[in-house]
Amino acid sequence: MEKLVSLAKRRGFVFQGSEIYGGLNGTWDLGPLGTLLAKNIKDEWWKSVVQKREDVVGLDSTILHHPKVWEASGHIKNFTDPLVECKNCHHRLREDTLPKDGKCPNCGKKDFTKPRDFNLMFKSHIGPVEDETGVVYLRPETAQGIFINFDNVLQSSRLKIPFGIAQIGKGFRNEITTGNFLFRVREFEMMELEYFVKPGTEKKWHTYWQKERLNWFLGLGIKKENIKLIQLPQEELAHYSKGTSELHYNWPFMGWGELEGIASRGDYDLKQHMKLSGKDLSYFDEEEKEKYLPYVIEPSVGVGRAMLAFIIDAYAEDAAEGEVRTVLRFHPKLAPIKASVLPLVKDEKLVKIAQDLYHQLKEDWFVTYDETSSIGRRYRRADEAGTPFAITVDFDTLKDKAVTIRDRDSMKQGRVKISEVATYLKEKIG
Ligand code: GAP
Repeated sequence: MEKLVSLAKRRGFVFQGSEIYGGLNGTWDLGPLGTLLAKNIKDEWWKSVVQKREDVVGLDSTILHHPKVWEASGHIKNFTDPLVECKNCHHRLREDTLPKDGKCPNCGKKDFTKPRDFNLMFKSHIGPVEDETGVVYLRPETAQGIFINFDNVLQSSRLKIPFGIAQIGKGFRNEITTGNFLFRVREFEMMELEYFVKPGTEKKWHTYWQKERLNWFLGLGIKKENIKLIQLPQEELAHYSKGTSELHYNWPFMGWGELEGIASRGDYDLKQHMKLSGKDLSYFDEEEKEKYLPYVIEPSVGVGRAMLAFIIDAYAEDAAEGEVRTVLRFHPKLAPIKASVLPLVKDEKLVKIAQDLYHQLKEDWFVTYDETSSIGRRYRRADEAGTPFAITVDFDTLKDKAVTIRDRDSMKQGRVKISEVATYLKEKIG
């Protein structure tokens, strides 16, 4: 992990949040390559969950909701973790993260307070008066924005059950203990789908979405041996859940642990919002001529946590040409930079051809141009950034109007006509 965190910083994937002020715990900023990687992850999720389907639509709701939303959802009462405090040094931590020997990780004493419920929602105030009447919370999940818009979406579209509403957006949790890089942070983006089904069909759809989501990760290159599906035991279910499956990843810092949750939420949320808002949120099934509150299946994953899994899975150190090469073997669809265009040397004629090709490819993909240092070093730089293709313009190009394309993983090189480079990339990237 140390190597990976250092690579992430050096190459501009991830920086500590507010680093120049000593950092703000539990926050990470995405650098130029991290921004691209996250965008590609979100685009692939959106394509698979929304764009390619006829039964799912998108939503972009606010981060601030009416405080009643969190009362209805149960977050004010239940979204808590057990907090203990060392009576000696006042260090606070989550009870379940206490070391096995029961000693305070800060001062070594063994004298803790009894656990108390600590609410993880960030609290603020709306408007100029800071009193209880203006309390608002930063959303800890995007899901509630979907539930409170259920009827708006239904009335403005012609969707029929089963159908889904998907949303990508920021979530905030005042985690007691953060750590393991992007794994547990206080501000993160989430990709959530609420899929509404007829009561009685929820098991079928729960299984369906477990398979879909597992295949999404596998299809984007996560190794089979590093990901698995588990069912959460009853005592670990969230307050809204009738049953939750989780995709677990084999994290190098903790072993198997949650990557994505796929919950069966029943009609908990719609029922609660109906109760507190007084608005009828039931669905009328035209075919069956019956009215009911739909049940919900919810696949939900953090962009940063998914990104961490993709980076860990892609990281490799190969012995190559007498040295160790560090390479990120991202799936081409996720790779931040799709290709690097390199003139073999800084010769005016080669530079002109390389730059023309670079500008042409830039219309469709994020590509870079690199003319500094030796070609070997430029290949290594591209490998480390996870760039799948290096395109070299050499002196033969002047004669055969072709370039050499080097594959990041096999390091094999092939000659491709300049006029066919775009088609070549399209075939490889999709
Ligand atoms: N709406 C359902 C929900 O919020 P969750 O299991 O609490 O469920 C969903 O969160 C996903 O969000 C997790 O599987 C994980 O990928 C991500 N996640 C949750 N808390 C996180 C944190 N503190 N830092 C980074 N990612 C987090």
